Amino acid sequence: MGARLLCLCLLTALLGYYIYTPLPEDLAEPWKVMLVSAAFRAVGHLSEAADLLGLMHYMEGMRLITVLELVAPTPDENVTVTDTKFNNVPVRLYLPRRAPGGLRRAMVYFHGGGWCLGDAGMKSYDHISRRISNELNAVVVSVNYRLAPQHRFPVPFEDVYSVTKFFLQSKVLSQYGVDPARVCVAGDSAGGNLAAAVAQQLLQDPEVKTKLKAQILLYPALQALDLNLPSYRDNDNKPLLPRSLMVRFWSEYFTSDPALREAMASNRHIPADSGHLFQFVNWSRLLPAEMRKAHVYSGPAVGGAGLAREHRGFLDPRASPLLASDARLHRLPPAYILTCEHDVLRDDGVMYAERLRAAGVPVTHHHAKDAFHGAMMFVLWPLDLAVGHRLFSTYMDWLNENL
Ligand SMILES: *[C@@H]1O[C@H](CO)[C@@H](O)[C@H](O)[C@H]1NC(C)=O
Ligand SMILES: *[C@@H]1O[C@H](CO)[C@@H](O)[C@H](O)[C@H]1NC(C)=O
Repeated sequence: MGARLLCLCLLTALLGYYIYTPLPEDLAEPWKVMLVSAAFRAVGHLSEAADLLGLMHYMEGMRLITVLELVAPTPDENVTVTDTKFNNVPVRLYLPRRAPGGLRRAMVYFHGGGWCLGDAGMKSYDHISRRISNELNAVVVSVNYRLAPQHRFPVPFEDVYSVTKFFLQSKVLSQYGVDPARVCVAGDSAGGNLAAAVAQQLLQDPEVKTKLKAQILLYPALQALDLNLPSYRDNDNKPLLPRSLMVRFWSEYFTSDPALREAMASNRHIPADSGHLFQFVNWSRLLPAEMRKAHVYSGPAVGGAGLAREHRGFLDPRASPLLASDARLHRLPPAYILTCEHDVLRDDGVMYAERLRAAGVPVTHHHAKDAFHGAMMFVLWPLDLAVGHRLFSTYMDWLNENL
């Protein structure tokens, strides 16, 4: 009896130790955030163990998070939901049921998950897409692009580009009763990366006549040149995206070669001939003082010549949209950019907002001081957070006025 009780106490203490993570003081509902974050960490640890044992790739294990969250495409009283294909790429399509009363707006959406995880059919994505479709009377196309590590860059980009291009054809827009002047692309995290890249690529494509009304980038990843920005330094270990995981996502997008991951982890992955790109991620110029804080600027170290010759994908603006020249930015559609203070990707979004503004693009930049990476996903009971509801409602208001 005594031994069992002792075991129970020890287990409880261990569990408490595992779950407990020091959090910034301004994060509300800390215990809920800690629980979610501990669940993510636990899946991460199990996946690492399974990878080490040769049972499965780390990312295969991480996909457990996606699989547990999947819901079927079920219509409700307001919206019909179907899984179909556009240009051979799977999409989940949301069509409002109410009488159109004129042409509709539309959103092409790219989910997050570091180009390796995630699915349009995850409960929270499905919920958000339904609400946008219903409340904005909009057609929502949520894309299930192919994922790394099976399909590395540029495949995920090419899939989302091909869906967007297909949808923007006049005959397709009119088939769904969509107003060609009211279509946007949107995405969160890696999906925000894809949305920014798609918006840039469309401007270079003579075959596309429809212009986007807006691009929506929710805590996007926008560059892999400097992985030691102040936001990476300050938020090394915050929920839900520690620096090590972001580095892993970036490297898996291009290669399984662990050398790239190790080089990225120490920010020594930059080819010697790419010094001209540093200006686009020069945070000493592009970040406001309150984000630079006391950090002293040093650009990324140049090194890893052989490595860099092999994996140059991360220098391509289709992977790192922040590396596009000013000339390529100035005709881009108006942007809504959400950044969170406690997020390694904060500075990517802040610097892109700054560069777009300087290039004359209208930008709405919403910086949430009390939020962490992925916070907007938490809008569903029992894992909903006040901060999630607030970010979502600010976003919906903007869409309602600007799409
Ligand atoms: C349908 O739309 C109405 C009005 O927006 C809303 O109150 C209701 O909850 C929606 N139903 C579902 C199943 O989401
Ligand atoms: C970064 O910006 C600072 C301040 O504007 C400037 O002094 C420095 O030369 C720049 N560095 C690079 C590599 O562009």
